[in-house]
Amino acid sequence: MLLEMDRNDALTPEADPAFRADVLAGLLAPQKAIPARWFYDHRGSELFEEITDLPEYYPTRTERGLLERHAPDVARIAGAGRAVVEFGSGSSAKTPLLLSAIDPSAYVPIDISGEFLRESADALAQRFPSLPVHPIEANFMHPIALPPAIGQAPRLGFFPGSTVGNLTAPTAIDLLRAMAGTLGVGAMLLIGMDRVKDEAELVAAYDDAQGVTAAFNLNLLHRINRELGADIPIDAFRHVARWNDAEARIEMHLETARDIAFSVSGQHYAMRSGETIHTENSHKYDRRGARLLLAAGGWSTIAEWTDPQDRFAIMLAEVKPPRTAP
Ligand code: AVI
Repeated sequence: MLLEMDRNDALTPEADPAFRADVLAGLLAPQKAIPARWFYDHRGSELFEEITDLPEYYPTRTERGLLERHAPDVARIAGAGRAVVEFGSGSSAKTPLLLSAIDPSAYVPIDISGEFLRESADALAQRFPSLPVHPIEANFMHPIALPPAIGQAPRLGFFPGSTVGNLTAPTAIDLLRAMAGTLGVGAMLLIGMDRVKDEAELVAAYDDAQGVTAAFNLNLLHRINRELGADIPIDAFRHVARWNDAEARIEMHLETARDIAFSVSGQHYAMRSGETIHTENSHKYDRRGARLLLAAGGWSTIAEWTDPQDRFAIMLAEVKPPRTAP
């Protein structure tokens, strides 16, 4: 009997109450929607890593190329001895490119996942044995107290990956302001932002030929079924990636091909054929839009670098001084 209970517990792990609340509420909305942050369970994180290597998914390799080429320029402008604070450090794959160019006084990776943090902190400690590393397990959407051990050195925030694009403008602005608060006076921020471009290229990046992005999107339904005691008929759904021109964003949806009914945590839902669950926004910015977003978040752009096709940009900004007229 005990064994039987143990096995059942293993099959239905304790659900995160915030996940349950977001899914139950999101499925009641007129346009059903689930926040993209719930993509990243273990399998979702693996699939995302696969996405970053896909031929169609240009952002990761373009940004890496930009960092390889321009980290020395960042170093020249930012100066040596800054404490580098990385937001959502994840696997910290691009961090060594920056750290080896700028001669930092400390590295502070911030991530909500303790597992990722420990792995990346260990890897960096091996690569940069004399660099003090102070990982912080936290949600960087809120201001964070930095460790006193990093002293008064000015900070350089690092937010690569175009993750800011997954937020709508008001949330992105709140985040940029929270970062300015966390980093303090004299801080700079190096941020990756994906550019508006040809629609076909954008859609292909989010609907790849091998179907990895489709699996990433559909994995959310598997997660709901497993963790929230749901019976969503996943075979009814297909992955959709579309460009929303008015909002300058790629949207990912899960569309049902037939009328369906299902339950999640005892709540009943129905969907009509063709109806979708909106699962992700990925906003793209032109040069002006990127600068305006940063300005609204309290940052002045001081330099930016793009690839020859202007697919992706890394922007260097400084905390804006207190507002003067007009
Ligand atoms: C994490 N983020 C920046 C990715 C993006 O491009 O918006 C997530 C992603 N979704 C589908 N493919 C990649």
